[in-house]
Amino acid sequence: MNETRYRILDAIAEEPVSGPELAASLGVSRTAVWKHIEALREAGFSIESDGGYRLTGVPEYGGPAIELGLDAPFTVEYHDSLPSTNARARELAEAGETDRVVVANEQTGGRGRLDREWASPPGGIWCSVLCRPALPPAHVPVLTLAAAVAAVETAREAGVDAGIKWPNDVLVPTEDGEEKLVGILTEMEGEADRVSWVVVGIGVNVRSEGLPAGGTGLLAHTDDLDRRAFVQRLLERFDALRGEPETVLSMWREHALTLGKRVRIETPGGEVVGEAVDVEFPGSLVVETDEGTRRVHAGDCEHLRPV
Ligand code: BTN
Repeated sequence: MNETRYRILDAIAEEPVSGPELAASLGVSRTAVWKHIEALREAGFSIESDGGYRLTGVPEYGGPAIELGLDAPFTVEYHDSLPSTNARARELAEAGETDRVVVANEQTGGRGRLDREWASPPGGIWCSVLCRPALPPAHVPVLTLAAAVAAVETAREAGVDAGIKWPNDVLVPTEDGEEKLVGILTEMEGEADRVSWVVVGIGVNVRSEGLPAGGTGLLAHTDDLDRRAFVQRLLERFDALRGEPETVLSMWREHALTLGKRVRIETPGGEVVGEAVDVEFPGSLVVETDEGTRRVHAGDCEHLRPV
């Protein structure tokens, strides 16, 4: 959001402030203040003007609403509908942007891992974070783990008992298995020694309608969901974790559903079956197999029933 608008909202959040006072404190004309107030009203903010301007309501969702009160250095771009927030974030990356978040209410061409489609009905939380970390490409998986940790902790704070399946699915355990709540798709571009940009796309199901079998939404597990606050906390957690790989790994272990389970992993080099015993930097799963210890860097993981 425009810096001046942000400062106006901040100033009028607690008590009424007159147009001339705002103009003086911001160093702009009274006409400029009036124009900013009108623009904020158009963006959905309720602002009374009796005895000074006062903020009386914030839009339920959207870019300015997410940015207001967000304790992380991201600019948020909101769309009611987009083919894919990852695709839009890639466009922003190609235009040289960084620390941008693209949020959509609905995606019409949502993309998942391994070239799969990702169902993204209206009312879900579909967002992509664009950043330019000082990392070699080989270390980027730790950012994906950071997003999974941020998502699982935010879901738990919202009252949903979720855990992580390696590498980065957030699932809700059920009586006869698990249902998928969150998926993460990380894309990047860079040289051998340093990435140019990374887009971390996070899809959090909210309603269960319109999801494929095996999917679940936050509202199936809690009645009390504030999407705006959910996205804010998710972004703040991701921001705090993105420079802390050791913390990411220890928190990932704490929330893991995979560790201690028998797993089958489809890797590009074939199938690995055994007990998942640990995760190592930058996100490899350590599996004890009949043939010895294997470290798996990428693949599709399935939790198996104990033998
Ligand atoms: C998966 O296959 O589990 C990953 C799914 C990732 C979906 C998210 S929704 C926001 C972002 N935009 C996309 O097109 N995909 C990711």
